[in-house]
Amino acid sequence: MAGIFKRFIVVLVVLLTIQVGSYVFMNLQPILAQTTQTYTQVQTWINSYGDPDFTDDKLKVLGDIQPGLGVIMQEIGRRFTAIFYAARAGNWDLANYELKELREAQEVAEITRPKRKEALISFEESFLGGAENPTEGTLQDAINKKNFVAFNKSFKSAANGCNGCHQSTGFPFIKYRLPAKSELPLQFPLNEQNQ
Ligand code: HEC
Repeated sequence: MAGIFKRFIVVLVVLLTIQVGSYVFMNLQPILAQTTQTYTQVQTWINSYGDPDFTDDKLKVLGDIQPGLGVIMQEIGRRFTAIFYAARAGNWDLANYELKELREAQEVAEITRPKRKEALISFEESFLGGAENPTEGTLQDAINKKNFVAFNKSFKSAANGCNGCHQSTGFPFIKYRLPAKSELPLQFPLNEQNQ
């Protein structure tokens, strides 16, 4: 008798599993399909960026919410400061990384604010230095050479370059000041001993 009861329970559990399984599958499928569809649409808008014939309002909305110079400048300010403290700590890999990220932030601004593109590129060439063959005296050059004295000099010139652009774009009241420490939550090993 107990054996039959056990078998009955097993059959019941199997049936229940199949029921629940198919219910979840049926309900999940449309959600998954929808997710894939939404993704494809966003991709289409992105691919059509800059195409004058593409007048989809959704693309305009997406364009309007891209970060402008004010937002990107806050990132640039934080990364610029981090470059200083990384270099001072002798963490040249981190300095190099932050400089690369700063350039990438600039590149976003060059797209979202084309009016500032020329000035941003000129700032990069004169003070940051390109990733490949940077000009002597630029930040990238000093970082490659792991030379803090040279770095300090190029950092000061770059900060003047930042403020020069603020001046010439009608924001003379925006002046970069090196904070007492980096605001990024990163370790700057030797830096802590210096404080
Ligand atoms: C192309 C010229 C240009 C260059 C180069 C430039 N900036 Fe700016 N920056 C601006 C403009 C314009 C603003 C005002 C933002 C706006 O238009 O909303 C600004 C704003 C700022 C702000 C204020 C952001 C805020 O909203 O609180 C900071 C901080 C800043 N810049 C830091 C820097 C640093 C650091 C550098 C150099 C590494 C730099 N900027 C280089 C043009 C420039």
